[in-house]
Amino acid sequence: MEYNINGLKVFTEGDKKNKAIIFVHGFPYDHTMWDYQVEALKENYFCVTYDIRGLGQSYVGDGQFTMEAFVWDLYSVLDGLKINQPILCGLSMGGYISLRAVELEPERFAGLILCDTRSEGDNNDGKIIRSNAINKINTEGVEAFVSDFVPKCFHKDTPNNLPELYNKIFAITKKQNPIGVKGSLLAMLSRRDTTLSLKQIKMPTLVLVGKEDALTPPKVMKDLANKIKKSKFHIVPKAGHMTPLENPMFVSNKISKFIEKNFKSEK
Ligand code: MLT
Repeated sequence: MEYNINGLKVFTEGDKKNKAIIFVHGFPYDHTMWDYQVEALKENYFCVTYDIRGLGQSYVGDGQFTMEAFVWDLYSVLDGLKINQPILCGLSMGGYISLRAVELEPERFAGLILCDTRSEGDNNDGKIIRSNAINKINTEGVEAFVSDFVPKCFHKDTPNNLPELYNKIFAITKKQNPIGVKGSLLAMLSRRDTTLSLKQIKMPTLVLVGKEDALTPPKVMKDLANKIKKSKFHIVPKAGHMTPLENPMFVSNKISKFIEKNFKSEK
């Protein structure tokens, strides 16, 4: 099913009576990042994906976005669909949104899955990199920016091993609205550091990272996992930063096992 909630394009698959999982994609991608997981999990779970404001098919508006606004958007999807205590799964920017959402209102969620993300905010160098990216989009366009950025997200072998997938994802990013992409960059640049809240996370948490993730390397994710009490950490082989796409079976199996173990009897 497809919905428009608060300007956001939302997609659901599976039986609403089942335990819900809400997936939050990374930057500068869209909800299709989770297609493989939705396909693998929809029989047993109610799977919800959506396009983050400004990206994919969601409303772009004036691009004045913050991480806080992205969190309110996530809550509005849950409220709009009347979903109680889903498992929240976010990758990279989706992970920033997830970590802040859990910091603000932990009682909304039953469990947390963090893929290829970090709790720290941008440091000074990171802020300059974001500013340069905005400048590049202003002067050369989105295509020039994503041509630099997207290859860094994948394992070096993925363009050769999975050319169809790589080209499909690349094509999605080239079509993104420049206002939405710049809005996401500003939201990431100005986001809050959530590291101190990690030790407050009481819910079962699964942490996944690509073995060759150059943007949020395994060491960063291991440190993050160590700060969360009930966390389980796995390195995803044959993957860079785009684990759900580069090694979909591994990621879907880990998610499935994590939910079975921690939420078995829940509908
Ligand atoms: C993402 O995949 O969402 C981005 O790499 C996040 C970022 O640029 O910090």
